[in-house]
Amino acid sequence: MRKHTLTVTSQRQLTDTVFELELEAPQFEGFTPGQFAFLDLGGSYSLARPFSIADGSKGMCTIVYKRVGAGTEAMTSLQPGAKLTGMLPLGTGFEIYHLSTETRVVLVGGGVGIPPLFALAKVLRGRGIDVCVVIGFATTSERFYEARFVELGCDVRVYTNDGSYGRRGLVIDGVAALLQEDAHDVLYTCGPHGMMKAVQALWKKEGYAALEGRMACGIGACLSCVQPLHDGDSKRICCDGPAFALQEVAL
Ligand SMILES: Cc1cc2nc3c(=O)[nH]c(=O)nc-3n(C[C@H](O)[C@H](O)[C@H](O)COP(=O)(O)OP(=O)(O)OC[C@H]3O[C@@H](n4cnc5c(N)ncnc54)[C@H](O)[C@@H]3O)c2cc1C
Ligand code: FES
Repeated sequence: MRKHTLTVTSQRQLTDTVFELELEAPQFEGFTPGQFAFLDLGGSYSLARPFSIADGSKGMCTIVYKRVGAGTEAMTSLQPGAKLTGMLPLGTGFEIYHLSTETRVVLVGGGVGIPPLFALAKVLRGRGIDVCVVIGFATTSERFYEARFVELGCDVRVYTNDGSYGRRGLVIDGVAALLQEDAHDVLYTCGPHGMMKAVQALWKKEGYAALEGRMACGIGACLSCVQPLHDGDSKRICCDGPAFALQEVAL
């Protein structure tokens, strides 16, 4: 982890509220999917904002963010050439080193939980592992990254709440269908809290979840991101996570 000077190389609007930001980061060497960038927006924004790394290679990093408040609103006006600072990669990413080409993996995501799963799919497909992706959106106009997963060769199943695209329902319906098929061994999930809680209740095989709690320091010092565990203990999302064993965390 180190503080980087980042230069915006492109900003693309993916939906009404979701944007993709590409950053040049000369000292960035790479990351494990699930790790995040902690971007200092400067000006009146005293706290940095955490965003999962959606893609990245030596010297380049992509994040996908949703406009939800003042900080992300300000980010939408960043133009190519704009400079900002940030720490990356931070946190502990998904446990993936034990997977083999025999492992049948499923990724389950909703909303801006999808970007870290894209990073994960890219690494797993690069290792020759079959990946099924179950992603959900409220409606068809909110869809993003489906084509990117398809390009990687993933089996992609899209759910929309209103049935305007793909299968009608919630991603949890997709998880229930997967359990019927009994064709997958390991699940990774990221998305809204309620979605991950429902996934945790259904999926009792090996699984991992990346959490997106509020953060202040990003490096384990302030305890503002403490996540209770089922065993009564607790961990910090920023450094012990964001990725945890699915059944470990008390969602
Ligand atoms: C490890 C991690 C990874 C993340 N990855 C992404 C990502 O890839 N893409 C993305 O769009 N967002 C991601 N987030 C959430 C993102 O950090 C917040 O949406 C952002 O900080 C909001 O800043 P803001 O100034 O626009 O909103 P604020 O003005 O701070 O808040 C606006 C509204 O958003 C809510 N909010 C703020 N932060 C969060 C949060 N962490 N979780 C849920 N609600 C929140 C607030 O309660 C409030 O209602 C991640 C968070 C964490 C901790
Ligand atoms: S954000 Fe400070 S300890 Fe996690």
